[in-house]
Parts: sequence; structure tokens; C-alpha cells
Amino acid sequence: MNDKGPSIELIGVSKSYREGDRTHDVLVDASATIQAGERVAILGPSGSGKSTLLNLVSGIDQPDAGRVIVGGLDIGALSERDRTLFRRERIGFVFQFFNLLPTLTALENLMLPLELANGASGDEAEGRARGLLDAVQLGDRAGTFPDRLSGGEQQRIAIARALIHGPELLLADEPTGNLDQDTGELVVGLLDELVEAAGTTMVVVTHARTLAERMDRILRVDHGQLVEA
Ligand SMILES: Nc1ncnc2c1ncn2[C@@H]1O[C@H](COP(=O)(O)OP(=O)(O)OP(=O)(O)O)[C@@H](O)[C@H]1O
Ligand SMILES: [Mg+2]
Repeated sequence: MNDKGPSIELIGVSKSYREGDRTHDVLVDASATIQAGERVAILGPSGSGKSTLLNLVSGIDQPDAGRVIVGGLDIGALSERDRTLFRRERIGFVFQFFNLLPTLTALENLMLPLELANGASGDEAEGRARGLLDAVQLGDRAGTFPDRLSGGEQQRIAIARALIHGPELLLADEPTGNLDQDTGELVVGLLDELVEAAGTTMVVVTHARTLAERMDRILRVDHGQLVEA
């Protein structure tokens, strides 16, 4: 766990995409610092660059200019292999569309990242997975396949999966985007509780004001820059 100092530093980060013979500047010299243990919401209109930002922080994508430093590591300076290890070991990612593996049960979906990240033994991984299933109130659905779970249940499994390896940083891309309001609030309450208990840094992209307002700080992506909202 990262106990002090910044968790994320973005220093003059730019990212553009080419569209035919035009370039689309998504992030332009964007800078921000997020402290360890902080919970930050990212707001901004569709297409403003929120998912792009999470992809840069997680090392899935690389900036054209500037530096992305996470937990003291300059992500751009890592080899491809070290970036993959960094992601597996230190980051949890909750995707908008859950991304559960359909051929694995709820329990197996939870165990997988643990086995990938640190080669935990089957028993260890199963014990931890069952503990987290209980924490998200799905202890009785361990053997269920994702297509038999409701959207809210799938999202709770996805949250448990993102936290199972004890990441120091949780990134969530519209974790309530597909949920009705009541289920959304349940999921958010749970996310908050799990993250708070572990002191995890959390960056959550959301359109939901109620979710954003529960965080410590709100940043907005505005014309390629990150500004305090
Ligand atoms: N791989 C890519 N190739 C080309 N353009 C891309 C790529 N990824 C994103 N873009 C463009 O970059 C811009 C920002 O995309 P991004 O997905 O970060 O937006 P967003 O803020 O997450 O939007 P939403 O709220 O709709 O999810 C969009 O105009 C998008 O079309
Ligand atoms: Mg997005």
C-alpha cells in the first residue's frame, strides 16, 4: 500500500487521435495531482476524454507528450512487460460493461486476477474470493455464471474482482452507467465502503452527480484540461 504522497501525477499530458488527415486533440497539456487515499470523481461531456484519461493512468494507453506517474512510477518509462505487471498488481479496473468472463462462474471470475497477479494458490485465492463475494452480498451466487446474474449483481462481482488483489489504486469507468438508480446507489455505497476500509485511492468517471458528490474532490475534463469542478 502506498501510504503517503501523491498517488497520481499528470504532468503536461497530451493525447491526440488521428481521424483520416485530421488530428483530434483529446487531452492538451493536462496536469493534475491526486493524493494517495483520495477519492476523486471525473466529470465531463461524452467524448471529452475521460476514458482516455483512465487508460493513460492504467498504462493501457500512452500519452503523446507529458508524464504519467502512478505510485511514484513513471508509467511511460516502463517496458511493456513491467507495465502489464504494474497493472495486474497495483491497479483495479471496473469497466462500464462489467467485462466478466462468461465461461467462468462468479467465484472463478474473482479468483482469476489473483492467480494472474501473484500466483496465489487455489485455496488462498478461493478463500479471498469467497470473502469478497460475501462482502458484496453475493456469497450464495459463487457458482453462478454471469449471464444468470442481474446487471447490478454483475457490477458487484466486477467491483469485487477489481479489488481482490488489494490494489492501491481503483479506476472505475462509469460503474453505475448501466444500473437503475437504486441499484446504482447500492453499488456505489459498496464501492465506497470497500475502498475506504482499505485506504485505496479511487478515481471514478461518472455522469451521476450523486456519486460524484460522495467523493472527496471533483475534477472536470474541459477542453482537454483537468479543472477543479
Ligand atoms: N482509439 C481511438 N482512436 C480514435 N479516436 C479515439 C480513440 N479513443 C477515443 N477516441 C476519441 O477521443 C475522444 C475522447 O474519447 P473518450 O472515450 O476518452 O471520451 P469519454 O469522455 O470517455 O466519453 P464517454 O462519456 O462517451 O464515455 C472521442 O472523440 C473519441 O472518439
Ligand atoms: Mg468513456
